[in-house]
Amino acid sequence: MKAIVVTDRAAGTAGMTLVERPEPDAARLASLEGANYGDVVVEVHGSGFTGNELEWPSTWIDRLGRDRTPSIPGHEVAGVVTALSYGATGLSVGQRVFGLTDWTRDGTLAEYVVVEARNLAPLPGDVDFTVGAGVAMAGLTAWQGLFDHGHLLAGQSVLVHGAAGAVGSMAAQLARQAGAYVIGTGRASGRQTAVDFGAHEFVDLDNDTLEDVGGVDLVFDVIGGDIQKRSAGLVRAGGTLVTVTGPPEVRPADGLAIDFVVVSDRAQLGEIVRRVRDGRVRTNIGNVAALDDAVAALNPTERTKGKTIIRVRP
Ligand SMILES: NC(=O)c1ccc[n+]([C@@H]2O[C@H](COP(=O)([O-])OP(=O)(O)OC[C@H]3O[C@@H](n4cnc5c(N)ncnc54)[C@H](OP(=O)(O)O)[C@@H]3O)[C@@H](O)[C@H]2O)c1
Repeated sequence: MKAIVVTDRAAGTAGMTLVERPEPDAARLASLEGANYGDVVVEVHGSGFTGNELEWPSTWIDRLGRDRTPSIPGHEVAGVVTALSYGATGLSVGQRVFGLTDWTRDGTLAEYVVVEARNLAPLPGDVDFTVGAGVAMAGLTAWQGLFDHGHLLAGQSVLVHGAAGAVGSMAAQLARQAGAYVIGTGRASGRQTAVDFGAHEFVDLDNDTLEDVGGVDLVFDVIGGDIQKRSAGLVRAGGTLVTVTGPPEVRPADGLAIDFVVVSDRAQLGEIVRRVRDGRVRTNIGNVAALDDAVAALNPTERTKGKTIIRVRP
């Protein structure tokens, strides 16, 4: 099968190459009778890649710390199940699915991927594969940050950093639907996008003063560093700073600082896709490219807006 691989950590996305790799061996998968913990083979139609994935250690080593290169990146998928192993609960061959694949195994910038069934949810027939691949990571990360970890309630205020980006624009939409007051941040060029996705107001981090925001109940941080440090002081007593950038460097004086890594969740994917279908949730997709053009698309020469989705099958 065709796949994008990386072998050189220092090279970043410039080190991506399109190669031939063996297809997953469905017969062997089925014969393992449970030792593979419910894996399915998915024929990939849409693949999503998070911009700094090649900095994640899991791109380079497996769970035992062993070198796993050449690795296939991309952990967001929409496609069709082509084979089941023992224990692949709740899915059928031929079913349209979407979700996240394991960080420490080969990913979705390929014609096929092996993934645990529990990490996938059904993708309704009227939701395009491009949309399915585009909504999985952003939708789950925003949902879990706002509600599972941030415990956001109607009437509260939330500061969403990077609100024009993939995760931030989803967080702005979901937070607003939950009845929260949403303050988005980012670069000046992101203002209109953040507002279009639901931010009530916008702070341009290069030109406005973040501290003028006053107090908020929740900070949703996707940037880290100095922005995260300055945000901790904005959290009201009893509030929370949630970050997806690694262990937090600060903690609000009278609140919590929580870091998390998104997990795939079938029920949450189902709720997110329900909102896609009824128009409450929009994806922030900028560019769609074929697998043959993926290396160029993931190495843009100009700044791109929105997520790039690789359409592996037309
Ligand atoms: N822990 C987890 O489970 C998890 C899950 C998903 C994502 N993540 C992480 O979350 C981060 C965001 O992911 P994403 O897919 O949403 O990326 P993205 O689409 O690039 O969004 C990031 C947004 O933040 C803006 N931004 C970044 N640095 C900024 C700065 N210093 N000042 C102002 N604006 C800034 C970006 O603007 P520009 O585009 O103009 O730079 C962009 O609008 C990544 O680091 C990703 O790895 C973690």
